[in-house]
Amino acid sequence: MNAPTTTSADDGTSGGSGGGGWFTPRNQPQTPPGGAQQTPEGSPLAAMRSVGRSASAGGAEQSRTHPSSRETAPTERPLTEPERGHGAAFSKPQDPPLRTAPEPEASPDAVRIRRTMAEIGPIADKVTSYFYALLFVRHPDLRPLFPAAMDTQRDRLLRALLTAAEHMDNTEVLVAYLQNLGRGHRKYGTRPEHYPAVGECLIGALSKYASAIWDEQTEAAWVRAYTTISQVMIDAAAADELRAPAWWYAEVVSHDLRTPDIAVITVRPDQPYPFLAGQYTSVETPWWPRVWRHYSFASAPRSDGLLSFHVKAVPAGWVSNALVHRARPGDAIRLGPPAGTMTVDHTTDSGLLCLGGGTGIAPIKALVEDVAEHGERRSVEVFYGARTGHDLYDIETMLRLQQSHPWLSVRPVVDQQAHLQLPDVIREYGPWNEYDAYLSGPPGMIRSGVGVLRDIGIPAERIRHDSVEELVAAGP
Ligand SMILES: Cc1cc2nc3c(=O)[nH]c(=O)nc-3n(C[C@H](O)[C@H](O)[C@H](O)COP(=O)(O)OP(=O)(O)OC[C@H]3O[C@@H](n4cnc5c(N)ncnc54)[C@H](O)[C@@H]3O)c2cc1C
Ligand code: HEM
Repeated sequence: MNAPTTTSADDGTSGGSGGGGWFTPRNQPQTPPGGAQQTPEGSPLAAMRSVGRSASAGGAEQSRTHPSSRETAPTERPLTEPERGHGAAFSKPQDPPLRTAPEPEASPDAVRIRRTMAEIGPIADKVTSYFYALLFVRHPDLRPLFPAAMDTQRDRLLRALLTAAEHMDNTEVLVAYLQNLGRGHRKYGTRPEHYPAVGECLIGALSKYASAIWDEQTEAAWVRAYTTISQVMIDAAAADELRAPAWWYAEVVSHDLRTPDIAVITVRPDQPYPFLAGQYTSVETPWWPRVWRHYSFASAPRSDGLLSFHVKAVPAGWVSNALVHRARPGDAIRLGPPAGTMTVDHTTDSGLLCLGGGTGIAPIKALVEDVAEHGERRSVEVFYGARTGHDLYDIETMLRLQQSHPWLSVRPVVDQQAHLQLPDVIREYGPWNEYDAYLSGPPGMIRSGVGVLRDIGIPAERIRHDSVEELVAAGP
């Protein structure tokens, strides 16, 4: 079935194109950032207009201007992240999903979009395959932007789109997420004119597989949602072009194999790389072009500008094996922009409760260094979990930090010895009501950790983590 080629959103109700055709984004955002404006359909979509200025700047992905510090929205969250996080040591397949933040009553568009989602949920794989088939057949020029082999990751684009559309009403969280995503898309070579192509193929795939419920209003709802989502991403990318490169080259300067499958890798970026302790970046190796994976910074920003990562090679993993077993000093990798909200709030003096599982200890170490550099005497309690004692590859560093800082306590939690999962220790210690919680590790550990923290009464806004599958996982 062919995708529609008419402009059904352009009926005056659209938050979008103003006569420019399918999903054609406006050049200028119409509302000021945060300005709420109801569409005729009743959805506060217009509130999603971002701070970016122009969609017309195009993807100057080669740009090499010196970056200044990036804005990091406090509420941004990874949306649909099927990555495994920092190693599987604590994963429990049966973990319940994270709670989602309470949302206002759904708009008519959101209701239609959720109906579509329910319809295609059980056949999401087919929808994904069809979506990419449409995209690459109709727009072969876009194929080279994607990795040669699109196996484990290929549903990310579609899943993000669907989840973003589903959460259209939760604008604050969504806008921050989409701005981040738009900035991150510069490294793929994505340009504003690519968005209509993706939008048409999305509608083509949805209308085919949700044909039982598909009608004009449903299509118009999706067109509005997609147009709005695209506009936020495009504006954010355009704004980012003015102050930062699309990617950084970085030379490996040291490679330290700590265990047979974990390496600490230090790189020197080709130009200053501003980031905050607790954030992560995306990495592409020279051996698998266009295959990007996320890795957390293992230190707070250093005066010598070097960046380090702790990488665990997972069985048959493309990027992790290349980094652990192949990369050597002198090799050049590419880095995307920094992302993530697991950063220290220096406006409070609350304690920090930190749970790091496996290589999830890397950003926790960065947070500890950040607190130390700010000279604050806030209590920091770190629980460092691993399956075996051998997997506690960075315990010596953490214990050294504990010796130098009286406000820091580090407790190893070895799963096999104690028959205790890392999140369970939260209940054994505490009370934690004066603490902000930071969780880093496999998604299963994060899910159960968040569950325990919420159970003992820690409000969602005091819980920070990345690498989960839900958009509004810990939203207020
Ligand atoms: C925000 C964030 C931060 C991250 N930070 C780090 C970090 O600091 N250090 C780090 O090592 N990783 C980190 N990760 C995980 C990392 O991004 C990759 O997912 C991981 O390195 C695997 O990538 P790959 O290309 O090697 O494997 P893929 O090619 O993606 O996967 C290959 C196969 O391995 C399986 N697999 C993937 N991951 C695991 C796993 N953990 N255990 C068992 N099987 C697996 C897949 O299901 C697949 O079958 C982070 C992830 C996120 C989302
Ligand atoms: C509203 C529109 C879009 C959304 C919500 C979206 C979302 C995503 C997400 C979530 C990912 C996963 C990796 C990441 O977080 O960066 C991704 C990857 C990617 N996107 Fe998009 N995207 C959109 C539009 C586009 C467009 C227009 C293009 C250009 C053709 C594009 C090209 C890519 C490429 C090349 C990848 C990497 C794929 C991979 O690693 O396998 N995206 N997208």
